[in-house]
Amino acid sequence: MSSPKRNSIIIAAKNLKRIYATDSLPLVALNNISFTVNKGEIIILKGNSGSGKSTLLALLAGLDHPTSGSLTVADHDLHLVKPRDLTMFRRNEVGMIFQSFNLLPTLTVFENICMPAMLAGKSLSKIKPKAEQLLIWLNMVPRRHSFPSQLSGGEMQRTAIARALINNPGIILADEPTGNLDSYNGQAVINLLKTMNRRWQCTVIIATHSNLADDLASKKFILKDGMLS
Ligand SMILES: Nc1ncnc2c1ncn2[C@@H]1O[C@H](COP(=O)(O)OP(=O)(O)OP(=O)(O)O)[C@@H](O)[C@H]1O
Ligand SMILES: [Mg+2]
Repeated sequence: MSSPKRNSIIIAAKNLKRIYATDSLPLVALNNISFTVNKGEIIILKGNSGSGKSTLLALLAGLDHPTSGSLTVADHDLHLVKPRDLTMFRRNEVGMIFQSFNLLPTLTVFENICMPAMLAGKSLSKIKPKAEQLLIWLNMVPRRHSFPSQLSGGEMQRTAIARALINNPGIILADEPTGNLDSYNGQAVINLLKTMNRRWQCTVIIATHSNLADDLASKKFILKDGMLS
C-alpha cells in the first residue's frame, strides 16, 4: 500500500446534498453538509436510523451521485462524474465493508477475496501473494476453500475485509461492520480496522451505532436529519 502523507486532505465535501425522488415528496437525505477528512484519519459516523449515514458512504464510494454540491475523494471530483464512469475509482481507491458482508455465495473465501482484483484486470500471479498474505493476517487460511454459507459471521466479515483490501485502497468505508456480530467478533473487526489504519495509513470511515470504535476516532461526525451537528 502507498504511504500517504498525514494531514493532507483526502476527502472534501462542500454543500453536499442528496435528495431522493419518492412517490410523495422528495426526501432530503443529506442537506448541505461540508467537511474534510485528512489522510490517515479514522472517522466515526454516527446518527439515528435514517439520518443519512449509508447515503453518505455510498456517495464517498462513488456508488451514488450527489444532487448538488461538490465531493472530492482521492483527487477525483465525484460530483462531476456519473457512477457508471467511476468503475476504476471504486475498484482502486476505496474498499467497502458492509453489515451484511455481501459475499458472493457461489465463490469460495479465496475466490471472493480475489474477485475485485480480477475485475480490475490484474493477473492471478500478481493477486495470489496479496490474497495469501490477507488470509494469513485474518486467520482465514483453514477456511480458504469454504463457501460463505459454511462460515461464521466473524469469518464472513473477515473475508469481506480481505476483499476490501485486495486492491490496496487508501480509503476504507465501513457501514455498520459490527452490526451482525457478537461483541467479541465486533471488537475483533474494530481492531482489524485500527491495524489497517496504523499499518498502511488507510483512511477509515466507520458508520456505526455501536460505541466499540469510539476510542479510535480522530473525529466523530454526527448526522441528524441529513445535517452534521
Ligand atoms: N433509494 C432511496 N430512495 C428513497 N429514499 C431513500 C433511499 N435510500 C435511503 N433513503 C432515505 O434516506 C434517508 C437516509 O437513509 P440512510 O440509509 O442513509 O440512513 P442511515 O443513517 O444509514 O440509517 P440506518 O442507521 O438505519 O442504516 C432515510 O430517510 C431513508 O429512508
Ligand atoms: Mg445505514
